[in-house]
Amino acid sequence: MTAQAPLAEQRDLFEIPTEICYLNCAYISPLLRSTAQAGKVGMERKLRPWEIRPPDFFSTTRQIRSTAASLLGSTANDIAIVPSASYGLATAARNLPVREGQKILVLAEQYPSNYYVWEALARNSGATLQSVARPADGDWTRKVLESLDSQTAIAALPQCHWSDGTLVDLAQVRQRLDETGGALVVDLTQSLGAMTFNLESIRPDFAVAAAYKWLLGPYATGLLYVDPQHHNGDPLEMPIFSRRNAVQFSDISYRNEFEPGACRFDVGEVANFALLPALHDALLQILEWQVPRIQESLGQRTTVISTEARALGLDVVDSARRAPHFLGIRFPDGLPDGLTEHLRDQQIYVSVRGDALRVTPYLYNTEDDLERFNHALRSFV
Ligand SMILES: Cc1ncc(COP(=O)(O)O)c(C=O)c1O
Repeated sequence: MTAQAPLAEQRDLFEIPTEICYLNCAYISPLLRSTAQAGKVGMERKLRPWEIRPPDFFSTTRQIRSTAASLLGSTANDIAIVPSASYGLATAARNLPVREGQKILVLAEQYPSNYYVWEALARNSGATLQSVARPADGDWTRKVLESLDSQTAIAALPQCHWSDGTLVDLAQVRQRLDETGGALVVDLTQSLGAMTFNLESIRPDFAVAAAYKWLLGPYATGLLYVDPQHHNGDPLEMPIFSRRNAVQFSDISYRNEFEPGACRFDVGEVANFALLPALHDALLQILEWQVPRIQESLGQRTTVISTEARALGLDVVDSARRAPHFLGIRFPDGLPDGLTEHLRDQQIYVSVRGDALRVTPYLYNTEDDLERFNHALRSFV
């Protein structure tokens, strides 16, 4: 693949004061100014409900399905609109068969939303929850491939680990699952929008992403991709707006039939007039920037920091084993006491996850931000 041209720095599109060094996109991304405005306009629609017509309950959801499909490489029909990753993962758990004695595979210290649901499913079905131990060399893929066998009913995985960005090669996992006969559920919350996703080679049964991080969306919005083989499955709710001809509000007869596609998996009250226009604005901006270019630009930023961290003798996973937009920095003797508090005092924002200092820049971060972080890091070594 040819290298992508990086994007210019985009700080002006956000409302981040110069003195704030926000390197914590994996925690919560700031909204674009335009996204906040779209949300404000959307919220204010309910000041005048007499202007809201039945087709309005369907128009933004239609746009989002189509934009999300462009992002995922799917069709709009494969997209459901959900309020969280956990909602999408619970939908997947409801629709994938697991028998007593089979296994459900997760990574060690996987994000809780992609753990508890499988722990409960295993308990209720008599299956075993198998947690793949963290590999010392960061090579999750090898460990996952070694763990898959004909007893694996479901592999529920991320594209990169939320604590330090270590990668899982989902295409290789899919290939092995094709041989062994298991289903693949992926949580893209820490990757969709920031790194490329190849639907054709990964072919997940279900893929979900909460939108409030790398999709720059508002909190409580998310996207669920559903493979066509599951389109006739069981939704968590029995949403009314996914029914045939639901737009005819005057017709009060019950409709048993759903519209075709994944919309039956939508959350109830899916036509969220405040949040959905905001989500759509954010998705459009990401499409315009283009994900490979975002990935390249964020990779440049993490490289500036990882180079400094390495020079200081700190441990950073090799770039081939981590997502370009993510950095987990480990100190030889453990994280210094008060590290994040000290950084916060300097208005530098990062997270600690487990034994790693998680640093996740975005397009709003300037060279000055990176230098400020590196300077602060030096004072800890
Ligand atoms: C990997 C991952 N998945 C999901 C989520 C959010 O899950 P939910 O939308 O269920 O709150 C997070 C939040 O940090 C995450 O890191």
